[in-house]
Amino acid sequence: MDAMTLLHERSSMGKLMGPAPSREQLEAIYCAALRAPDHKELRPWRFIEFSGEGLDRLGELFAEAEFREDPKATDECLNSARMKPKRAPMIIGVVAKVNPDVPKVPKIEQVISAGCAAHGILLAAHALGLGAMWRSGKYAFDDTVRKGLRLGDDDELVAFIYIGQLGGRHKPIACHDSEDFVERWD
Ligand SMILES: Cc1cc2nc3c(=O)[nH]c(=O)nc-3n(C[C@H](O)[C@H](O)[C@H](O)COP(=O)(O)O)c2cc1C
Repeated sequence: MDAMTLLHERSSMGKLMGPAPSREQLEAIYCAALRAPDHKELRPWRFIEFSGEGLDRLGELFAEAEFREDPKATDECLNSARMKPKRAPMIIGVVAKVNPDVPKVPKIEQVISAGCAAHGILLAAHALGLGAMWRSGKYAFDDTVRKGLRLGDDDELVAFIYIGQLGGRHKPIACHDSEDFVERWD
């Protein structure tokens, strides 16, 4: 797939099946993520790979977050939280590892850089014929989850990228007119 086709046609896939990407595919995916623009080469990225029992552990964290938010949450609600990570054979958590004390590189730049790394993962997955979907959801901002994943006070959980084999067809790509978004100062 040529680069422009990839950039124009990448799309998300919510329906994912096993097996998880191979080690070789993951290596190519992380190489793409590590090419994210990075002011002052801070490398403000941390990737957490969840698969197998790791997905169960993440599900337990989600259920714990749900319970802390509402101790009266029903078993159905807790089980639904527990099952969320099971929508893919692998999840890559993308964390912005923020250093708040770097001159000229404020937190927002470091978080954006981690967002670009997440986009790199999506693009590489698509190029490899894998399916992937960026999800955050409320758990990405939850203190129980943050603590369970050992995020520092200034860190941000930028993405949970669900990744695996395509489990369905890509939806048609929305056609936008760039004129709606571009202004020109000629
Ligand atoms: C920061 C961020 C968080 C997102 N979180 C969710 C989410 O929690 N649940 C969801 O269904 N889509 C979420 N999305 C949107 C999907 O990843 C996807 O981009 C959207 O469904 C459009 O599909 P497309 O990527 O094929 O255009 C998120 C996107 C971004 C950039």
